[in-house]
Amino acid sequence: MAFFRTINFSEPIASIPGDGVTLRTPQMTDYAEWAAVREKSREFLIPWEPTWPVDDLTRGAFRRRIRRYAEDLRTDQGYAFVILRNRDGALVGGLTLANIRRGVAQAASLGYWMGLPFIRHGYMTAAVAAVIPFAFTTLRLHRLEAACIPTNTASIRLLEKTGFVREGYAREYLCINGIWQDHLLYACLQEPAKA
Ligand SMILES: CC(C)(COP(=O)(O)OP(=O)(O)OC[C@H]1O[C@@H](n2cnc3c(N)ncnc32)[C@H](O)[C@@H]1OP(=O)(O)O)[C@@H](O)C(=O)NCCC(=O)NCCS
Repeated sequence: MAFFRTINFSEPIASIPGDGVTLRTPQMTDYAEWAAVREKSREFLIPWEPTWPVDDLTRGAFRRRIRRYAEDLRTDQGYAFVILRNRDGALVGGLTLANIRRGVAQAASLGYWMGLPFIRHGYMTAAVAAVIPFAFTTLRLHRLEAACIPTNTASIRLLEKTGFVREGYAREYLCINGIWQDHLLYACLQEPAKA
């Protein structure tokens, strides 16, 4: 049945254009810029992310990351992107569609981060708005899920303004910054729910 089929990209996926930004598959040549912006944003990002491995910003760890992304893409398990600012090509952040569930779910989990020097310019709004049609059309997903800590005002605002609807509250849902933390659950459906 076509609806349930798995996507298989034998070629690298094309970049996704957005309003002022472009999403592209990360590659080894992104290392220096990626590591620099992550280092500059370390204190800003750490409270909202899984604990960073001690070697996370090394070239070797980045190479493993790129290999994992390539394998996830090849096997339709996940799609990772860097977010580039169109004006100057700066690498401003990252976004992932992870944990792809096919079969009767056709769902994925959305994750994202913005580098500290680039926050509050609308770049993540543009990136999420661009990835939604990619997820529903190119990947033929039915449902995008996202979860955030209740105190993450920026993430909540981002999700609500890009069409995600709050569906629930999950206790100790994810281990963030070394602590099992409660999360608000959001989702965006391929077609809006009937009133
Ligand atoms: C969440 C995050 C990705 C937003 O990125 P961004 O590029 O700053 O987002 P945008 O500029 O597109 O802003 C989206 C909305 O959030 C609002 N916003 C952003 N930061 C905010 C803050 N600190 N407090 C309140 N609102 C905030 C913006 O004003 C905008 O709403 P508006 O259009 O009504 O003004 C970024 O803050 C981030 O990386 N945070 C740390 C990591 C993180 O939280 N990851 C997600 C875990 S669930």
